[in-house]
Amino acid sequence: MATKSKKQILIAGNWKMYKTVEEAKAFLKTLAPLIEGSQAAVYLAVPFTAIHPAVTMIEQLKAPITIGAQNMNDASEGAFTGEVAAQMLKEAGAQFVILGHSERRHLFHESDDFINKKVKRALLEGIQPILCVGETIKQYENGETLEVLKQQLVGSLAGLNKEEIKSLILSYEPVWAIGTGRVAHPDDAQSAITSCREVIAEKWGKMVAQKLTILYGGSVNPENAKAILAQKSIDGLLVGGASLSPQTFSQIANIYKE
Ligand code: PGA
Repeated sequence: MATKSKKQILIAGNWKMYKTVEEAKAFLKTLAPLIEGSQAAVYLAVPFTAIHPAVTMIEQLKAPITIGAQNMNDASEGAFTGEVAAQMLKEAGAQFVILGHSERRHLFHESDDFINKKVKRALLEGIQPILCVGETIKQYENGETLEVLKQQLVGSLAGLNKEEIKSLILSYEPVWAIGTGRVAHPDDAQSAITSCREVIAEKWGKMVAQKLTILYGGSVNPENAKAILAQKSIDGLLVGGASLSPQTFSQIANIYKE
C-alpha cells in the first residue's frame, strides 16, 4: 500500500502557446537529468509544432517523459482550415491530448457537446484525453461550483462506457486560479475533486470513480504543490506557467523523489 510520501503522482506541464522547436529541445535536454529518480509520471503538452521534435529528443535522451498535445478537432479529417486531427497527433508521437481547457472553453467558445465529440475521437484513435473542468470566479462566488462541475462532466463525458472512462484523466482547474497566482485552497481543491468522483460514481460506478486519475490545475508552483498533493483525492497536477522553466517544473516533479 503506497504511503502518502510515496504516492504515485502525475505531473503534467501545459506549455500553452510558448516555445519554438529549438526552445523545446533545449528545455528537454535540461529537464531530463533533473527528473532522474522522480516518483512522478511526467507529461508535457507542447505546441503542435514541437510534438515530433520533442518525441525524437526524449527518445535520444531515453527520458521517461510523455509528450502530448493541447487540443485537436473532433473530425477524422476534412476541410477545416487550421485544425489538427487526432490521427495526425498520434503519428507525430502525441500520447495524450488536453481537452476542454478553460482557455478553449472561454476564448474559443467550445461547448461541452463539442468537447464530448473530441473526447470520443481521441479515445477512438488511442490518444489519452486529459479532460479539464472548472468554474469561473462568478460561479465560485455564487456557490455554483458543484453544479458547474457536474454539468461539464456529464456533458463532456456523455455516451462513454466504463472502460473509456477508466482510460482518461480528469483535471479540476478553477478558471479563477489559472494564470492568476491565486491557487485554490488545498481543502477546496480536495472537496471539488471529491465531488467530481461522486458524479463519476453516480454514472459509472464507485470503482471507476475511485481509480480515476484526477489532477488539480491553477497557479501551481514549487511552493504550493506539496500541500495540494497531500490531499487524498488529488493524484497529480496540471502546471501551466511553472512548467515553462525546467528548474521549477522539475522541483514540482521531484516532490516525492527517493
Ligand atoms: P497556470 O495554468 O499553472 O499557469 O495557472 C494552469 C493551466 O492552464 O493548466
